[in-house]
Amino acid sequence: MRNFVIVANWKLNGSINMISRFFEYLKFHSSIYLEKKTIIIAPPTIYLKEVNKNISNMNIFIGAQNVDINLKGSFTGETSVLMLQDIGVKYVIIGHSERRFLHNENNDTIAKKFFLIKKENLIPILCVGETEKDKKYGCTKQVIQEQLNCILKKSKKLVFKNAIIAYEPVWAIGTGLSADPEYVQLIHKFIKNHIEKHDFMNINDIIVQYGGSVNCSNIKKFLEQPDINGFLIGNASLSPQEFLKIIKITHDII
Ligand code: 13P
Repeated sequence: MRNFVIVANWKLNGSINMISRFFEYLKFHSSIYLEKKTIIIAPPTIYLKEVNKNISNMNIFIGAQNVDINLKGSFTGETSVLMLQDIGVKYVIIGHSERRFLHNENNDTIAKKFFLIKKENLIPILCVGETEKDKKYGCTKQVIQEQLNCILKKSKKLVFKNAIIAYEPVWAIGTGLSADPEYVQLIHKFIKNHIEKHDFMNINDIIVQYGGSVNCSNIKKFLEQPDINGFLIGNASLSPQEFLKIIKITHDII
């Protein structure tokens, strides 16, 4: 069976009340659907513990949306990988375009985070993807290659074992206009071939998710593509009804 991982990236959304209603709905309606796939919820850092409390006895993991490059010390406002580990976080999203562009994170910073996360035995979810301008000028593959190479060049091999890559074309995020599934398939194949060649991983073990305006009405065509191993979902993951529908459709197809 194909590896498949569904991640809810709540971004800067949520509240204690929303979390309680979200999990009430999931607990009441989900039963078997959550068993078969890996489901991760990434709330804002301040709500990680609240979500963790709500997922006990459910087959759901918590993920963080970011982490600092330092482990401890005078870094006001930051959260370290040790702290995330301390409260039971298993996955950490890094390299999201909103952090690359709004918080000036470059490939070097992201690579530092990647290796710190791996060193502490957590699982990085590395976001890569081109802007609209990159796409227009035919630079998509080059941009993604650079985003991957900043990690590949610093390691000997198998660095992407126990890691997830999320392909998120920047122009598809939050726009309601998802990328064409066949285009996504080509890019996922390109990512897998590049990693296989340089990281010596078995291509079947490489996990590449798609993110960018995923919702329950457009996922069927994505699920038909053999190299899509999951979704990283923003807006549609805030509604428990929509999120569960996505899980159910996925469950029925793969
Ligand atoms: P949307 O699903 O809202 O487009 O967000 C995608 C995303 O950025 C997930 O990380």
